[in-house]
Amino acid sequence: MSFHDIKYIELGDSKTVEEKRGVFTVKKLVLLVFAALAVGLFHPSINCFTGVDTVAKTDGSSFSASDSALCPIPSKVPIKEHDAIQYILTDNEYKKDVIERFSKSLQIETVIYDDTTDYSEMQKFHDYLEESFPLVYKTADVYKINTYGLVFHFPGSNEDLKPIMLAAHMDTVPIGDPSDWKESPFSGRFDGDKFHGRGASDCKNLLVGLMEAAEKLIADGKSNFERGVILAFGYDEEASGWQGAHHIGEFIEKKFGANSIEAIVDEGPVMFLDFMGDYYSMIISGEKGYSDLTVEVDTPGGHSSLPKDHTSIGMISKFIYDYENDPFEAILVPENPMMGFFECAAEQGHLPKPLADAGKNARFDEKARDVILSYSHDNTFLKYLLRTSQAIDIINGGDKANSLPRSVSAVINHRIVYGNDVDTVWSKAAKHGTTVAKKYNIGLTVNDEVLFPETENGNMVISYFGPPLKTAKPTSTKSEFWGEFTGLIKSFYEDEVYPEKFETGSKNFIITPSIMTGNTDTRHYWNLTDNIFRVQPGSLNMFEANVHGPNEWVDLETHLQSISFYYNYISHFSIKEE
Ligand SMILES: *[C@@H]1O[C@H](CO)[C@@H](O)[C@H](O)[C@H]1NC(C)=O
Repeated sequence: MSFHDIKYIELGDSKTVEEKRGVFTVKKLVLLVFAALAVGLFHPSINCFTGVDTVAKTDGSSFSASDSALCPIPSKVPIKEHDAIQYILTDNEYKKDVIERFSKSLQIETVIYDDTTDYSEMQKFHDYLEESFPLVYKTADVYKINTYGLVFHFPGSNEDLKPIMLAAHMDTVPIGDPSDWKESPFSGRFDGDKFHGRGASDCKNLLVGLMEAAEKLIADGKSNFERGVILAFGYDEEASGWQGAHHIGEFIEKKFGANSIEAIVDEGPVMFLDFMGDYYSMIISGEKGYSDLTVEVDTPGGHSSLPKDHTSIGMISKFIYDYENDPFEAILVPENPMMGFFECAAEQGHLPKPLADAGKNARFDEKARDVILSYSHDNTFLKYLLRTSQAIDIINGGDKANSLPRSVSAVINHRIVYGNDVDTVWSKAAKHGTTVAKKYNIGLTVNDEVLFPETENGNMVISYFGPPLKTAKPTSTKSEFWGEFTGLIKSFYEDEVYPEKFETGSKNFIITPSIMTGNTDTRHYWNLTDNIFRVQPGSLNMFEANVHGPNEWVDLETHLQSISFYYNYISHFSIKEE
């Protein structure tokens, strides 16, 4: 998961974040909304949604709590493996073995960089897996994909049932500055509560948890798979997955066919987040698209004692300055899973009334959407879930103090939100390119189209830096699988893991669709199924767990939840009742 995937969770625990990072918190933002309302910054009608296009509201009153059609609460799904779950969560002897095995996984340095070409360290991780999980290797068909990708296939006896697939990745990001770490990033030390080390949270906990679940199922004699099970582990997720997941996706599509998988669950936010006064399971059911553009300015150059008023560096600077000062507009379309998030949070959560009202009406009422969009503007959590982001990430140009620069270029990264597409990005590039071309009388070509021919002063060309990616097709929240999956999550946390947290009924467990700002390996799995979920068992605050930062950790509790949740999940979907 890339860093920005995680960032949005940072506001999950407003207290800790506020104390530790001093960033804007949800609570502060709620106050801000109230303050803004008080001084009339928002349209006055937001307290009385009477927009003509508001539906399902005939009496003019606000929605009541029982009016919950927008976001149905999943029905609990009976837990098949209660005994095994409780054993995994509580048995001390079992825990000892789990701790030892997981600690070992953290001692293997599976760090990758953007430009890594030698992945041979991954072989050590393979060796570790084979040694630690012998029953999985004995029982499954094991495929090594593009050398270090791993696919474990447990064939099912009923070919009419599509297999379920569970994904994770074995690579980690680098450690950064070693002096920022309080202890060795690869010690795998367990302090009685937490495991310390790079990759603990992202995402060896999940990968090893899946292996533990499968190993224990087999050890418990539960290997009569009726529905096939696939475990798929990439090895360069942190560098976009072109070596691992991409080849795994192709392999599975070739072997099983397109749309041959029932559902894929990959890494994502933890399933149990203490957030905004309730417990949330934010299931990532879509991903933003992206496009990287190169902007290049060429001028004739020459001796710097006789310069023109503007060099190619000056010209591109004007472009970049204008571009950064013209952010993309916030937008919330029904297709964006965040629409579902607001509906669920509004109906079931403890949001301030103006925001709750906006959430309930946003799908049909532009004014309600505007309330949310204004709210998102200064909110780190929401800002880039509701707008396309832009970041100037590379700049090159100039070679000598006394010669004019000829060719200068910059690369701009965009993460495209639902409701925008690559054309949104192209038209902004063309707009600012035109300003610069006219001002300096140079040519302009945008996406291979010549808007102004090259002049003797020079030329600007804006083109793709790499292939763009569309926004992911959102996973439906109406499917049978969504109901079953979310029902399992609800039963698991409310009845098996944290029954005491639900005794007073003061907080709800709200299961919502959502998106994140970055991508996972699942972009390579789009052809395999429409049911793609990015979420993982656990209850820690992933921001506190320093994912991608120094001193990354994961707690044993989260690791045991990974094992027990997937033990039950695989049994539920795939193991035949005796
Ligand atoms: C998915 O299917 C399309 C159409 O057959 C194909 O062009 C594309 O390469 C496939 N994607 C992957 C990641 O395999």
